[in-house]
Amino acid sequence: MDFQATDKSCLNWSGDCLVIGVSEESLPLSGVLSDLNDKLSGLVQDIIDEAEFKGKEGSTVITRLGKDSSVRKLGLVGLGSAAKLKLEDLRLAAASAARLANKAKCQSLGLSLPIWSNNPGLTAQALTEGVTLALHQDNRFKSESEDDHVKVEQVHLLELPGQAEAIQLAQQTCDGVILARQLVAAPANVVTPEALVETAAAIAKDSDMELQVLEREDCEKLGMGAFLGVAQASDLPPKFIHLTYKPAGTPRRKLAIIGKGLTFDSGGLNLKVSGSGIEMMKIDMGGAAATFGAAKALGQIKPDVEIHFISAATENMISGRALHPGDILTASNGKTIEVNNTDAEGRLTLADALVFADKLGLDAMIDLATLTGACVVALGDNIAGLWSPDDSLADEIVNAADRSGEKLWRMPMEEKYFEGMKSVVADMKNTGPRPGGSITAALFLQQYVKDTRWAHLDVAGPVWTEKENGYHNPGATGYGVRTLVQWVLGQG
Ligand code: BES
Ligand code: MN
Ligand code: ZN
Repeated sequence: MDFQATDKSCLNWSGDCLVIGVSEESLPLSGVLSDLNDKLSGLVQDIIDEAEFKGKEGSTVITRLGKDSSVRKLGLVGLGSAAKLKLEDLRLAAASAARLANKAKCQSLGLSLPIWSNNPGLTAQALTEGVTLALHQDNRFKSESEDDHVKVEQVHLLELPGQAEAIQLAQQTCDGVILARQLVAAPANVVTPEALVETAAAIAKDSDMELQVLEREDCEKLGMGAFLGVAQASDLPPKFIHLTYKPAGTPRRKLAIIGKGLTFDSGGLNLKVSGSGIEMMKIDMGGAAATFGAAKALGQIKPDVEIHFISAATENMISGRALHPGDILTASNGKTIEVNNTDAEGRLTLADALVFADKLGLDAMIDLATLTGACVVALGDNIAGLWSPDDSLADEIVNAADRSGEKLWRMPMEEKYFEGMKSVVADMKNTGPRPGGSITAALFLQQYVKDTRWAHLDVAGPVWTEKENGYHNPGATGYGVRTLVQWVLGQG
């Protein structure tokens, strides 16, 4: 899709579909809208009356213009109250506009939306993201292409001249989001630990990064007993993936992004029962998907920051070699774990990944994991949980998420709850009591962090959506990539 930022306005743009954002305050018609209404002999007012359009957030109307008009279709998208307009509202409005134009089989779209907070750069970026993400469809596993394929090819951002750089940043970011969506959407017989290695290798090649892959024996040498315990029942070899981006000059910061990479989670011998959503457990590498999605984006953006992208990738399976519930594992920092539940496997793989990253001499690190159903119970499907013992790092992540439009909520590191993880035989168990299950999971991870500022994001809810949701179509959302990019760039 081709994006252009132009100084043309809705009065002099020509093309297939013109969509204009209309706030509640701009009705009755005023300003350019009123000029456009005059130019179109009162047609704008007509469709507003016919559809009883009030500019309410999310409402849309579309109509055909006359044969001799230089625009074929005219659409309006409601913005709600202009006074309360957020950047995310513009992203959503751009998505509605794109869906409207696409349904109307239009090739070119002229988008006329207000500039947010006097910031044309962030506005152009948000509009590009909204359109790109709303129109992305994944038909890789359909034998015939359906009629609902994308028709919009050119998008003109009206009255936003000189924003080519912002558009490019959005497109690079969306490349990463789309990679993350593809990784999460593909089933476990396609996205295997080896396939994640191939993905990382392709990024390393395209963006000139270093790729280190630790095989089972390498992990054994490093004492990664927790990760290897989870991996031991699978017929597929585990892969510990470490991709490094180094900027040309001296890095401003050194960071790590660590993603839970369970390409399938059967639960192990604490097998997920029917009704538990076992058939969805291909999404259990959503953290790794966000990690490599961010790598794909940042490899193109090339910030002055050194970044380590890490995932301990494996499957959680059953076989004669499976972990027995009650087995005791030793992680690479020497801590012993009584595995009282083989379905709490993500934290075991992350334990060794965190110990590994902690030794890299970083300024900060973040892990993303589809870690607990408890987090979904607490925050629902749209919001990730954020844990960090470090207030300034937590603020950085909250601000990055705010700019990206991805929702998260800071949760407490309630140390007293770690008592529930005490084991009679080992240093700790891997699960505590049901209440506060996402908090005890975060406290477990904290045991594997010694020297580095660290934050943890539980993304079990937002990596997938069953229904169309804003600029996401049903399926994988690519959650996390945009927040990670914003965090690394650390603007604002
Ligand atoms: N991968 C799951 C968590 C999950 C649940 C992800 C729903 C996406 C959607 C994780 O490994 C798991 O099984 N967690 C258990 C932990 C429990 C055994 C303490 C859970 O949440 O039930
Ligand atoms: Mn599990
Ligand atoms: Zn899992």
